Amino acid sequence: MQPTILFFDSGLGGLSVYKEVKALLPDCHYLYCLDNAGFPYSEKPEEVIIDRTLKICQKINRTFPLDLIVIACNTASTVVLPSLREHLAIPIVGTVPAIKPAAKISESKHIGLLATKGTIKRTYVNNLIKDYASDCNVEKLGSTVLVEIAEKKLRNGEVDLLQLGSELEQWKGIDDLDTVVLGCTHFPLIKDEIKQFLPQVNYFIDSGKAIALRVQNLLKNVNIKEKQNQNIENLVFYTKNSQHEAQFENALYQLGFKTMSVINVI
Ligand code: DGL
Repeated sequence: MQPTILFFDSGLGGLSVYKEVKALLPDCHYLYCLDNAGFPYSEKPEEVIIDRTLKICQKINRTFPLDLIVIACNTASTVVLPSLREHLAIPIVGTVPAIKPAAKISESKHIGLLATKGTIKRTYVNNLIKDYASDCNVEKLGSTVLVEIAEKKLRNGEVDLLQLGSELEQWKGIDDLDTVVLGCTHFPLIKDEIKQFLPQVNYFIDSGKAIALRVQNLLKNVNIKEKQNQNIENLVFYTKNSQHEAQFENALYQLGFKTMSVINVI
């Protein structure tokens, strides 16, 4: 029997993490939930994000007994992990900005954290910087617009480069910025476009591969739950019906998902 793994994000950004996990563990049973009714999480109050994430994960777990959850969202992971671990007795893997490897690889010791407006403010992230990048000068850039640009790219393939470039304006003149942490799961999906505006940057680091290895390791010690009449199709859930879902159905089907359905959560 294959473990059932839920990926959770506010939108389609979590697919950047899902792709890495699926590449390493192709045969697991995958569920993906996007909280499109709450999108974007970037500037939402922490309590709202905690409440929504917990309710959604619990609801899915009641119907599809889960073996592991990946919170494929930095904005949520920096606040929800304690509460999820308190309420759900399964491994919960969070996605947090890859500050540690970035500080290690940077030669100039001048690095950038590109994340949502919420993530760059979090105590969790400041502690990561204190613990692992104390020898670096760390620039922080929080953007909701970039999240929306990435989400749109997944839906219809369009990227507004003018808007993207102006979001990155403040880093353009920083010549020794050699490493950028893509601290939002949406950003690996627009990495090529981001690169065009930051030619001085040698390394763009995200957490996807590290998460895939972490999931692989944790699964070694998981007692996979018995599932009766298990539907082994990979499924997508979202929290609000809108015309956008029809637009990105194709992207999801190409990634191996079969059926999409709405869940009423709140
Ligand atoms: N993909 C999410 C992250 O990693 C956030 C997107 C949003 O702001 O909703 O932070």
